[in-house]
Amino acid sequence: MLYGSQETQNKRSPVRGRRSRERRTMTGIGLLLTAAVLSSYTQLPAEANSWWSLALNPIQRPEMYIIGAQPLCSQLTGLSPGQRKLCQLYQDHMVYIGEGAKTGIKECQHQFKQRRWNCSTVDNTSVFGRVMQIGSRETAFTYAVSAAGVVNAISRACREGELSTCGCSRTPRPKDLPRDWLWGGCGDNVEYGYRFAKEFVDAREREKNYPRGSEEQARTLMNLQNNEAGRRAVYKLADMACKCHGVSGSCSLKTCWLQLADFRKVGEHLKEKYDSAAAMRLNRKNKLELVNSRFNTPTEEDLVYIDQSPDYCLRNETTGSLGTIGRLCNKTSEGMDGCELMCCGRGYDQFKTVQVERCHCKFHWCCFVKCKKCTEIVDQYVCK
Ligand SMILES: *[C@@H]1O[C@H](CO)[C@@H](O)[C@H](O)[C@H]1NC(C)=O
Ligand SMILES: *[C@@H]1O[C@H](CO)[C@@H](O)[C@H](O)[C@H]1NC(C)=O
Ligand SMILES: *[C@@H]1O[C@H](CO)[C@@H](O)[C@H](O)[C@H]1NC(C)=O
Ligand SMILES: *[C@@H]1O[C@H](CO)[C@@H](O)[C@H](O)[C@H]1NC(C)=O
Repeated sequence: MLYGSQETQNKRSPVRGRRSRERRTMTGIGLLLTAAVLSSYTQLPAEANSWWSLALNPIQRPEMYIIGAQPLCSQLTGLSPGQRKLCQLYQDHMVYIGEGAKTGIKECQHQFKQRRWNCSTVDNTSVFGRVMQIGSRETAFTYAVSAAGVVNAISRACREGELSTCGCSRTPRPKDLPRDWLWGGCGDNVEYGYRFAKEFVDAREREKNYPRGSEEQARTLMNLQNNEAGRRAVYKLADMACKCHGVSGSCSLKTCWLQLADFRKVGEHLKEKYDSAAAMRLNRKNKLELVNSRFNTPTEEDLVYIDQSPDYCLRNETTGSLGTIGRLCNKTSEGMDGCELMCCGRGYDQFKTVQVERCHCKFHWCCFVKCKKCTEIVDQYVCK
């Protein structure tokens, strides 16, 4: 049995990191990245070619990543020069980065399924299409949730022994853990996941060298802030899990370890951050500052944006908005999924559709459930 802990934990700040072998490795990467920036840098349009595409080009053959199969890194689309270097050094991580990005995108689609912009992917090269060229709230969420996906996937992969450079979490025993409980087990390595994701995901932004005060520089700062907020969400929500031992469930002995939260929780947390995201602009010192100084200054856990969102009502090739024509809406809801808001006042068409559901389910000894199929005619509403 697993118990979620009510107690707050003494997790250390991820930023301080650890003085371990891993840390030295990461410093090495830093140097490598710098080298990559100096050697070759081609400017790409905003998101035309992003590491997100790893989510869509599933890397199906992990065995290709064993050292020696280097050509693979040059075949992967969407990597920046620094990310390509990281790929070469950490080939076994790439599958999990792809998985993490996919988890993030799926969560984004879940959180936004009833909204005009529904996080739908467009094609396998640009993933989200031109919409990401706008520094909007939606873009902020997308960066955060995909960075979070990578932390999640890498942390778990460490724990499962899939990566050569990390293993179980080495988070020190929380101070408030009752004395007779054991701290051990193999925890998700959130520290490593955090640090690797920072190197990999941020590489792309750190390679850029835009003129001071430019719109592109503001966007780079925005992306970095939102990547960080995403990573911290995973770190913050990871909690202690415990297992009982002892005579017939007496729970006289417990073993506890650090465990990632369900990714849905991360999605919900970031959705709240999306709702409270702060509008920013570049100031004279080349830092982002609040547009409206009456609001609270965002912390590193908060999302920020620099552009107003388009209304996403109509298809627009320039902004990449897909529009809401043909989207399902809810006739009785007054929220974003309601026909009024979803269809942007254009009205809707009503359809009758047949829905097949499992029903009259019966439990049979032992052990299966048998159901009947019931059909029901339901009304559906679709935006004009
Ligand atoms: C997109 O993916 C499809 C099938 O997965 C592939 O045939 C096509 O070449 C890809 N397009 C690009 C531009 O990579
Ligand atoms: C698309 O969006 C841009 C920017 O908001 C706007 O200037 C343009 O008129 C739009 N085009 C269409 C066809 O609606
Ligand atoms: C998301 O929106 C697009 C464009 O409006 C639509 O084609 C797609 O089916 C939608 N996806 C879902 C899951 O509703
Ligand atoms: C439509 O919205 C109403 C009110 O929010 C809700 O009770 C109902 O379950 C929704 N219907 C569907 C099909 O989602």
